[in-house]
Amino acid sequence: MTSQSYIADLPKRVGTETAVRGWVVTTRSSGKIAFMVLRDGTGYLQCVLGKKETDPETWERFGHASQETAVSVRGVVREDARSPGGVELTVSGVEILADAVDFPITPKEHGTAFLFEHRHLWLRSRRQVAIMRIRHEVVQAIRDFFYERDFVLVDTPILTGSIGESAGTLFETPYFDLGTAYLAQTGQLYLEAAAAALGRVYCFGPTFRAEKSKTRRHLTEFWMVEPEMAWYDSDDNMRLQEEFVSYVVGRCLERRADELRELERDTAPLERVVPPFHRLSYTDAIDALRAAGSDIAWGTDLGADEETTLATRYDRPVFVYDYPKAVRAFYMKENPEDPRTVRNNDCLAPEGYGEIIGGSQREDDYDKLLARIRELDLPEENYAWYLDLRKYGTFVHSGFGLGVERTVAWICGIPHIREAIAFPRMMTKLYP
Ligand code: 4AD
Ligand code: MG
Repeated sequence: MTSQSYIADLPKRVGTETAVRGWVVTTRSSGKIAFMVLRDGTGYLQCVLGKKETDPETWERFGHASQETAVSVRGVVREDARSPGGVELTVSGVEILADAVDFPITPKEHGTAFLFEHRHLWLRSRRQVAIMRIRHEVVQAIRDFFYERDFVLVDTPILTGSIGESAGTLFETPYFDLGTAYLAQTGQLYLEAAAAALGRVYCFGPTFRAEKSKTRRHLTEFWMVEPEMAWYDSDDNMRLQEEFVSYVVGRCLERRADELRELERDTAPLERVVPPFHRLSYTDAIDALRAAGSDIAWGTDLGADEETTLATRYDRPVFVYDYPKAVRAFYMKENPEDPRTVRNNDCLAPEGYGEIIGGSQREDDYDKLLARIRELDLPEENYAWYLDLRKYGTFVHSGFGLGVERTVAWICGIPHIREAIAFPRMMTKLYP
């Protein structure tokens, strides 16, 4: 019996005979020798067949296997420094497992719309595989970071009765006799309750925003990791963020060098992502933008263009902190030094990627929080439990949310976040 191997394991099998199952990427023949590149998800393998060494039927099968045909090839593993993985397979047998006629995605250029219509097949391409592996690393690094620091994972609900960030962007669904449920925009409010139980906690899951934005950085369903820390103020919060972002980027540099190379990512800007990040108050940011020719007024939220202008001034991510209260969520702590502002921060990634984190110290004063809820006309009865947290041993606490797709897009150096998730959900995209 011939052993079965994954391509990634072949360097350990040099000199032995084995079989590999996978899908055909390309074939070419020079008349005497034929080559096939095979992929199996763990890697790519060059398979070589000599016409003289084989029977005519195998030669024929090998040479005519079309793109994405599922095959099993058998042969001896040889060292070959020029091949990916450092090995190739000298083939002695080929079995066609399943045909693939006219695979829609060929090596020629396709339009973006076509590729997204065929997302289920497009995922097999080298570039998409590299992006998915980097995403996988980002997610694992996130979990490791918090595990190593003794944060406790608390899973927060996706169906919620209270509103998280802003009322305009909620997906609604009928909920039995209880009226309307909303898909969670954030797990934060629940996490604040958990932080009083466990100290330092985080949640990590899909998040939903019915945003009618068709930008390159908005999805209607995205993944967000949100830590929440008892006894952290806004400065402690930013210190954790810079350590965290640096850790995640560092892990990709260390363990996903092959994938970054596949994407032709210039890693020099990523190597510079180490603490401390630059810090700039919102007010100073407005001054800087105006000095650079913008007519933005104090009190306006920063848009993507402003974020890019600011971020390109620095060689690593930058924190913009203490935004005007009016352009931020109701739960942020009023800044005692300037009550027009709150103690929050955004973290802007370099190279034009903009906001990857939104974070803040939370309002811990019962009366102030209640006043804010009323001011914004939020359904007070839904927030009774949230207000309780300010009634029974209220505490200084802070947290933040990092968007996984924006982070992956930045690390990969890809222009649009829709490629940073396997099946993106956008205003105009529900298929496949
Ligand atoms: O700034 P946001 O809205 O903050 C919150 O949701 C807070 N509750 C987080 C917290 O303090 N626990 O969102 C946080 C991050 C953004 O910086 C961005 O990276 C990502 O989530 N994000 C989106 N990503 C993709 N598509 C969208 N529509 C996104 N909206 C936010
Ligand atoms: Mg934000």
